[in-house]
Amino acid sequence: MKSILPLAAVFLAVVHQGGCAVLRPRAENFKLFAYSGEDMVGLNVFASDGLVYAGDSSSLDKSSISNLTISTDDARDSTWHVTVDSSNGSSTGYWTIQASDSGLETVSVSTSQDSGTTTGFGLYGAWAYHISSSGDIEMNYRATPTETDGLYLIKWDPTSTTDDSATAVQLRTQSPVPVTKDKN
Ligand SMILES: *[C@@H]1O[C@H](CO)[C@@H](O)[C@H](O)[C@H]1NC(C)=O
Ligand SMILES: *[C@@H]1O[C@H](CO)[C@@H](O)[C@H](O)[C@H]1NC(C)=O
Repeated sequence: MKSILPLAAVFLAVVHQGGCAVLRPRAENFKLFAYSGEDMVGLNVFASDGLVYAGDSSSLDKSSISNLTISTDDARDSTWHVTVDSSNGSSTGYWTIQASDSGLETVSVSTSQDSGTTTGFGLYGAWAYHISSSGDIEMNYRATPTETDGLYLIKWDPTSTTDDSATAVQLRTQSPVPVTKDKN
C-alpha cells in the first residue's frame, strides 16, 4: 500500500501551480471520512455534542450523535455549511476550528460563525484542506485517541508540528471501498 504523504505532496504542488480557480471549488452535500495509512481506512466522521469524531461511535450515547453533511454554497466563500442530522432532527451549523489551551485546536460544528475559524475551508479533489491567512494550503487534521479503541477526536494542528498522541489524518470525501467478507 502506498503511503499517503507523498501523494499529499504531489497534490500540494499541483494546487500551487493551478492558481486560485482550483482552490475554491463549489461542492454540495459531501460527507467526510478519515484516512491514515493502513490503520484508518475511511473512518466515518461524525459529531457528538458538537465535537467532530471519527471511527466507532458505539460507546457514545446515541442521542448525542449527529451525522454530518457538508456543502459550500458560494464558490468565493469558503465557509462549510454543515447539515447536522441526529435523533433530535435536522439543524445546520458551521465547520469550525477553535484555538484551545492544549496546542491542538478543536474541530467542531458550531451554530455561530463567531466561535472560531469558519472560513478558508476547501476540497482539492477529494481532500479537505484549510488555507491559512498567509495563503498556504494546510492539511493538518489530527486524530487523537479516546478511551474507546477505534474512536478518535478530530483536531487541528495549527503549527504542523507533530504531537506524540496525535496521528496525522486526511479527511476525504471518498468513502472507503467496502471489504468483501468471506462468508465461509
Ligand atoms: C438531543 O437532545 C438531547 C436532550 O436535549 C441532548 O442531550 C442531546 O445532546 C441532543 N443531541 C444532539 C445531537 O444535539
Ligand atoms: C446516520 O447515518 C447512519 C449511517 O448511514 C444511519 O444508519 C443513521 O440512521 C443516521 N442517523 C440519522 C439521525 O440520520
